[in-house]
Amino acid sequence: MKKIIITIDGWSSCGKSTLAKQMAKALNYVYVDSGAMYRAITLYFLRNHVDWTDEKEVHKALKEISLQFVFNEKSQQSEMYLNGENVEYVIRDLVVAEKVSEVAAIKEVREFAVSQQQKMGKGRGIVMDGRDIGTVVFPDAELKIFMTADNAVRVERRFKELYEKNPNVTLEEVKANLEMRDYIDSNREFSPLRKAEDAVVLDNTACTEKEQFQKAMKWVQQKLQVP
Ligand code: DC
Repeated sequence: MKKIIITIDGWSSCGKSTLAKQMAKALNYVYVDSGAMYRAITLYFLRNHVDWTDEKEVHKALKEISLQFVFNEKSQQSEMYLNGENVEYVIRDLVVAEKVSEVAAIKEVREFAVSQQQKMGKGRGIVMDGRDIGTVVFPDAELKIFMTADNAVRVERRFKELYEKNPNVTLEEVKANLEMRDYIDSNREFSPLRKAEDAVVLDNTACTEKEQFQKAMKWVQQKLQVP
C-alpha cells in the first residue's frame, strides 16, 4: 500500500502528539515528536551551561549531541534519548519548557534538527508533529494538518498534564509559559510557526479525541486514494 507523509503543526498544547500517535498506530507508521528533539537539545545546553547566545558555543555543543528515538515495548512509545540517556520524561519539565523556544529559534539548532527529521521521512510512512513540519521539513507531504484550539482550553490541558507530575505547578505559570512560547515560536526569524498554504485546519476546542481522530483519518483515506 502507498505510504504517505503526514505533518501536524500548530500551537503548543493543542493535542498534536495525541492525534499523531493515534494516527501512526492506526496506519502502522512511525511517529516522530520533533519538539522532543528541541527539548533534548535545550536540556543539554542547560546541563552543560552552554551560552546559546554565542554562535561558537552552540556550534561546539551541537557536535557533542546525539539524538535518538528508541521504541519502548512497555509504554508502546518512542522515547527520546540524548547521548544514550533516556530523557523522555525530564524534557517535559517546566525548566526545559521555559527555555526551549529560545533555543529552537537558533538557526544552527534548527538546521541540526531539520536535517535529521528529513532523514527519518525518507521512506515515507511517517507522522511528524511540530511547528514547521509542513512548511520546512516536508513541504511535499501528502497530508498537512494545522491544529488549533482556544487558549483557555490549551492552558487547562497542559496544566492537568504537568500537575500530575508536579502538584506545585500553578495555572498562572503554565499560562505564562504557553503564551511566551506561542509568541516566540510564531515570531522568530527562522521557520516561524505558520499554517502551510495547503494544510487543513483542525480546531479541536469542542472536539473529542475520537471525533478529531475520525476526521483526520478521513483526510488520510482521501490522500491514499490518490494514485
Ligand atoms: O511540541 P513541543 O511543545 O514539545 O515543542 C517544544 C518547543 O520546541 C516549542 O516551544 C517550539 C519548538 N519546536 C519548534 O520550534 N519546531 C518544531 N518542529 C517543534 C518544536
